[in-house]
Amino acid sequence: MEIINSVSEMQQRMLAARAQGKTISFVPTMGFLHQGHLSLLHEGRGRGDLLVLSIFVNPTQFGPNEDFDSYPRDLQRDLDLAQTTGVDIVFTPDASQMYPSGSATTVSVAELTSNLCGASRPGHFDGVTTVVNKLFNIVLPHVALFGMKDFQQLAVIRKMVVDLNMPVEVVGMPIVREADGLAMSSRNSYLSADLRQQGLALIAAVRAACGAAAAGETDAQQLIAQVEQIIIAQSDARIDYIQICHDLTLQDMTLVDEHAVLLLAVKFGATRLIDNHYLLQPVVS
Ligand code: PAJ
Repeated sequence: MEIINSVSEMQQRMLAARAQGKTISFVPTMGFLHQGHLSLLHEGRGRGDLLVLSIFVNPTQFGPNEDFDSYPRDLQRDLDLAQTTGVDIVFTPDASQMYPSGSATTVSVAELTSNLCGASRPGHFDGVTTVVNKLFNIVLPHVALFGMKDFQQLAVIRKMVVDLNMPVEVVGMPIVREADGLAMSSRNSYLSADLRQQGLALIAAVRAACGAAAAGETDAQQLIAQVEQIIIAQSDARIDYIQICHDLTLQDMTLVDEHAVLLLAVKFGATRLIDNHYLLQPVVS
């Protein structure tokens, strides 16, 4: 497994691989890898000759009062996990490589970013689309894999790729959960045992809402009210949003159909957790 820190070296390496006719699959991450990331790598392994993982905690997608400094980092552990998953190249640039002083260009997707996390984290998606665009230009992937855990992020990246005619196939992968249903996240490491227990309200709420929808409830407000009751029963929960949105437009829906996705963002203490589920699809775990 190669480890490359330099942007220009990485780009040269990938240009050479392309010239040899190799297909490149790419999983961008911020590291502190868990089974969710590994599921993307497993899928990516089967989709390209070369599997590239990037590990970069991207400063531009964190707000001024967010957790950039405390974001968990453990490069050695990540490299060990990457090795066992069959990664060929790990790209780990530092921030000065990615954003040399004088950088003045931002990639911004409108509309899809106005709702949900876009509303509560101003500038977040500009940071994501700018860095993913840069990573695509450096790694030159044929296929890039993203998790549905970050449902809005996946939609925004798909839109960027279409609007900017980027020759990259974007693959969305299902949410990987802990045995008790908590969606895996690098940020789960912040949670105390008590807050982690409270965080299970997210999957409980998803189960309740999907159950009610399966039983015929189509009124989005009714379903949201039911979810809200489950969340506010937790003493340290502060709701950021609970919404039911169309999977393609991310606009709020009033009546549930097969496009309806329940999306939640809730702070448990200082830790913000997100989750989502298609309302009319069965909850597996
Ligand atoms: P990060 O949070 O590290 O996530 C990297 C990828 O793993 C994303 O596509 C995310 O959706 C996916 N992922 C995270 N948890 C998952 C889970 N439980 N199940 C399935 N997939 C999961 O998302 C980012 O980094 C950054 O915004 C990035 C795209 C790298 C740009 O900086």
